[in-house]
Amino acid sequence: MVTQGDSSQEHERRHLLDVADLDWSALRQLLVSAESMQRLLDSTAGGSDDLRGVGVTTLFYEPSTRTRISFETAAAALGARVSTFNVATSSVGKGESLLDTVRTLEALRTAVIVLRHERAGAPWFAARHFGGSIINAGDGWHAHPTQALLDLSVLSRHLGDRDGSLVGRRIAIVGDLLHSRVVRSNLHTLTTAGADVLLTGPARLITGFAELAQSIRGARGGVRVVTSLDEALDDVDAVMALRIQRERLAAGELDSLEAYRSAWGLTAARLAALAPRALVLHPGPMNEGVEIDPDVADGPRSLVLEQVRAGIPMRMAVLHQVVRGARAHG
Ligand code: CP
Repeated sequence: MVTQGDSSQEHERRHLLDVADLDWSALRQLLVSAESMQRLLDSTAGGSDDLRGVGVTTLFYEPSTRTRISFETAAAALGARVSTFNVATSSVGKGESLLDTVRTLEALRTAVIVLRHERAGAPWFAARHFGGSIINAGDGWHAHPTQALLDLSVLSRHLGDRDGSLVGRRIAIVGDLLHSRVVRSNLHTLTTAGADVLLTGPARLITGFAELAQSIRGARGGVRVVTSLDEALDDVDAVMALRIQRERLAAGELDSLEAYRSAWGLTAARLAALAPRALVLHPGPMNEGVEIDPDVADGPRSLVLEQVRAGIPMRMAVLHQVVRGARAHG
């Protein structure tokens, strides 16, 4: 359990657009809040009325299972009025712009928009034109703040010290870094929590990450990009496999899925060579038999479904925080 410590300092935020600007105190406040949301979910009441009457709309321009459903479950558990915006059957098909959609949702009494968009920066654009709160549920290759927060909550629970920090822990992230908003957000949260992060993958899928690693300064942990999977996995506490994003791959970026599995996939044989304590994560959705084998994903070291479950209390904590922030900012 993460102790409260000095994280009682309030971090009032009307929006959650990124995690790059969250310091350890802000992250810890969310960890503590998510734990209290979990207790609420486990209680006989199963939720609260804290967001009663607050309109929360999920506006997803890209597919999603985990993020959308867990946000909607989280909002309902807090008593909010939840709407799912179906892009495919909406007036987006008649040419309605993001700006027009956001203004229309505000007129329809939405107070919080949970936005996933294929364009990096779209949540910042929406936040400039919306009177309520915007939560970034993934923008292009750029950021996936709530995935990183829930990953941190899971790792903190298993590997964290009393205040939840990950100082001295080694966490490897393997695979298609290039197209991954998850890794770009996790780099910030994990190093701010004190972890040493090792990044690796095929040369064409780790392009630009050496420079990105250099740019992460001031965090308690560090980032290192290595070209050898064995080096990345040496003595790790946890390894996270990333999805090969077939829909975003350009010609020549990957030879074949079979070759990828053989060189970089988390197979039972590779797992057997890891430190016995090493845990396995994947943000989902998984290409089983490519970046992770089914017996590894379903095995005793896997935290994959725990990651999914952790999405609900962490997203409750985020919803609670932005609504409180909006009220504080008038
Ligand atoms: N991890 C994640 O963002 O999953 P979904 O695309 O299913 O929301």
